[in-house]
Amino acid sequence: MNGILGFLKLVLDGMADDPEEQEEFLQEAFRSAQHLLDIITDVLDLAKIEAGKLEIACEPVNLHELLQDVDRSQGNTAKGKALNFEVQLPTTLDEVIVYGDYQRLKQVMLNLASNAIKFTHEGGVTITTEIIRKRFQSRNQEFPGLVMLRVADTGIGVSLDKQNRLFQSFSQIDGSLTRRYGGTGLGLAISQRLVEAMGGEVNFYSMGEGLGSTVTFTVPLFQEPVMISNPTPEDGNPSA
Ligand SMILES: Nc1ncnc2c1ncn2[C@@H]1O[C@H](COP(=O)(O)OP(=O)(O)O)[C@@H](O)[C@H]1O
Ligand SMILES: [Mg+2]
Repeated sequence: MNGILGFLKLVLDGMADDPEEQEEFLQEAFRSAQHLLDIITDVLDLAKIEAGKLEIACEPVNLHELLQDVDRSQGNTAKGKALNFEVQLPTTLDEVIVYGDYQRLKQVMLNLASNAIKFTHEGGVTITTEIIRKRFQSRNQEFPGLVMLRVADTGIGVSLDKQNRLFQSFSQIDGSLTRRYGGTGLGLAISQRLVEAMGGEVNFYSMGEGLGSTVTFTVPLFQEPVMISNPTPEDGNPSA
């Protein structure tokens, strides 16, 4: 808000030396407004979740479509930082259908992918998927398995002793990083609650500072896809 008011005031007071500088001030005000909107959206989301009022409408979701959507919106940001950005789809014959809320799954993916890009300066970000066959029940519904999505980066990583705080609201590694990287410290907290509300689980892995990070989350599989690599189904195998 200070950014918006400050830069608008410069323009209103005629402090810009020329039209280009005025344009720069307005661009800064616009960026600040966008950032403020992100914060408000996150805070409201978290407030709704805490009040038990968040509506999640689960339905079959095409995983390819979701990942393409993520690729389109994050690929360019990564390219702008000269990072590799790769999305690997599962090697199945037919499309993989998961069970969740499309917009919320996309929100989680965008949170994780944008973190990975934000905290990586060299190398890149790879998104992979793995189908895990394991019958399970979630909220009175039976599923044939789950899909694990992985967002792996070659970025700054997180030291082992600090990893347990990452999912707490407003938690960021430290003040100087906050100033350098921006954000609210709410993305992971919200993502975790959304994933759990859809019957999945989130985990953060890093071998330490400077060693990159990997965040995984699971989402129920709606129907078993036809695999290319593994033609013998393991149905009914109790140890699977
Ligand atoms: N891919 C990552 N690499 C390194 N640190 C990360 C990564 N993702 C999250 N973090 C750490 O976890 C904190 C919380 O993340 P998040 O909840 O998304 O908040 P924000 O992105 O607003 O800082 C970040 O501030 C950062 O310290
Ligand atoms: Mg974030």
